[in-house]
Amino acid sequence: MSELNLIFLGAPGSGKGTQAQRLMDDFDIAYIATGDMLREEVAQGTPLGTKAKLFMDKGDLVPDDVIIAMIAEKLSKTEAHDGFILDGFPRTIAQADALSQQLTALGKELSAVLLIEVSDDEVVRRISGRRVSATTGRVYHVDLDPPKHEGRCDVDGARLLQRDDDKPETVKKRLSVYHQQTAPLISYYGERDLLRRFDGTRSPTEVHDHVRATLATLRLEELL
Ligand code: AP5
Repeated sequence: MSELNLIFLGAPGSGKGTQAQRLMDDFDIAYIATGDMLREEVAQGTPLGTKAKLFMDKGDLVPDDVIIAMIAEKLSKTEAHDGFILDGFPRTIAQADALSQQLTALGKELSAVLLIEVSDDEVVRRISGRRVSATTGRVYHVDLDPPKHEGRCDVDGARLLQRDDDKPETVKKRLSVYHQQTAPLISYYGERDLLRRFDGTRSPTEVHDHVRATLATLRLEELL
């Protein structure tokens, strides 16, 4: 494992983005979040964004071919050459197979798939209080992980917003899509001995400490 190539897996609201941001402070590697990339396309009003919004607003997955092409372009760029964190991709077996093919073509392999486990009730509680910085993308929760000043990002004071797809009925749909289409990736990566599980009900700092300890162990094992 000469470079860290990681995937964060877990239900919507399980804390993937929160943990990925913390890992970015530890390792200088590329952060690739398909949800953020799609929201950027929506905000810019591109044809891809206009198409994706139709699916995102309903809590459905954007079609595999669109996502696979988007990720292929990103992974082939130089910033991903020294390692990457994938957040929100892959989400289907077809996406996982496409990723595997692309990594083989690039001469890379995955280091680990980090699964953050929380209950559906906890997901609803978290998403209903989630707020996101309009400029930095940093994620907060009004009760569980509040900013220092209400409604403002700690980093630059920008306004905190609620995501369009964080409405209760859309969250229910996203959870059901996760269980049907994404949860099969747990056994997919388990069979490949890449899966590492984390108790996502612990505090963000405890989860982060556990992730770091796991990655340190992986690196030590590589040296043995
Ligand atoms: P995406 O943006 O990827 O959303 P998601 O997977 O539903 O995940 P979230 O961003 O909602 O949650 P998270 O796990 O990152 O949690 P967070 O850290 O924010 O995707 C959005 C949409 O885009 C999809 O529905 C789909 O339409 C489309 N899409 C994206 N990728 C796709 C793909 N590959 N294929 C097809 N379609 C795709 O935390 C949540 C809240 O909890 C925050 O408020 C946080 O402060 C709080 N929190 C976090 N950790 C803790 C903790 N340990 N304790 C207490 N609170 C915590």
